[in-house]
Amino acid sequence: MPFFQPSVSPLPENISLRGQTAIVTGASQGIGTEIVAQLLERSISTVVLAVRNVAKGEEARKAILGRPSVKKGMDTKAVVKVMKLEAEDYGSVKSFADDFSKEFGELHLLMLNAGIGILERDILPTTHEKTIQVNYLSNVLLLLLLYPLLTNTATTTGTPTRITWTGSRMHTSSSLLTGKKPLAPSSTVLGHFDSKESWVPFTRYGDSKLLCLLFMYEMTNHDDGGKVVQNSFCPGMVNTGMSDVLPIYLRVPVNMVKALRARSVDVAGWVALNTAVVVGGESHGQFYADKEVVEPAPWFRSAEGRRVQKMLWNETVDEMAKYTKVPAWMKKV
Ligand SMILES: NC(=O)c1ccc[n+]([C@@H]2O[C@H](COP(=O)([O-])OP(=O)(O)OC[C@H]3O[C@@H](n4cnc5c(N)ncnc54)[C@H](OP(=O)(O)O)[C@@H]3O)[C@@H](O)[C@H]2O)c1
Repeated sequence: MPFFQPSVSPLPENISLRGQTAIVTGASQGIGTEIVAQLLERSISTVVLAVRNVAKGEEARKAILGRPSVKKGMDTKAVVKVMKLEAEDYGSVKSFADDFSKEFGELHLLMLNAGIGILERDILPTTHEKTIQVNYLSNVLLLLLLYPLLTNTATTTGTPTRITWTGSRMHTSSSLLTGKKPLAPSSTVLGHFDSKESWVPFTRYGDSKLLCLLFMYEMTNHDDGGKVVQNSFCPGMVNTGMSDVLPIYLRVPVNMVKALRARSVDVAGWVALNTAVVVGGESHGQFYADKEVVEPAPWFRSAEGRRVQKMLWNETVDEMAKYTKVPAWMKKV
């Protein structure tokens, strides 16, 4: 992408999401908050802000509902609810999915948006490295727990439901793609990313986004999207608080670059909603950079890329089987 990012066109005027129910993870700030606001502007009937910090989520909810554009577009009977989801903890993901399913009983749109970009290595009680847990593993568990609801809603309405990942072009900077830390022939993919020896701070964010994409590509080999359309998008560089966690010596230059080239969150919202509600079934298994489909980098088609994709899938099936009943179609390859 050039230094100065191209402009993105706004969404079509005539989108109505009336009657639909959505979950947006990581909705307490940044792109997630904006996605919630833009869904409400288009009259969505129910939207749940899935957040790790409920008090902060309530503040975000209040701010969203105070926006004139939201007041103008929203369904006056819309349900806008904050619910706890801590992606560091599989138990919290399960409680969220259980509570949501019991309370709402239908789901049209799941936006897997929560994410971190940190430079410290931390191993969580789940035994996994934090960025991989938050950005990849917990998202997969949430997706699987809610998949029956997405399928049932599609059956009832006769219209496919949707899963949209907030991805990133940075997946191509993964240490696997650049060869900085190739996967040893004897290593597992998850074991590789959990190990201290394979820790590369500046590529870990890209590593986590690569795993999300590999999972989506493999999952869409098993499932034709007839009931649940799944896709992913990158909104480019966006002016959010994501870089606030960086050490000061990095935050200053990053913020200077952001000041010059970052997009505003409303543009990121347009890109998100384009992928989630504008493009159709043809988008199943596709990664969008802004509003354009991007073909996978050559690495994905290489023998190594295919090996890693299969290994990750099989390891993820085993990992998820510890926490939920893995669906029959999720066969190992
Ligand atoms: N900004 C960009 O340039 C850019 C570009 C491409 C893709 N993205 C992706 O866009 C998504 C949103 O990022 P953003 O830019 O909006 O960043 P952000 O402002 O930092 O928002 C991240 C959101 O994720 C939540 N979150 C973090 N850790 C969590 C956890 N353990 N459990 C549950 N929620 C958690 C945060 O909650 P708290 O408020 O509690 O921290 C926050 O709501 C991420 O997936 C990111 O990778 C961003």
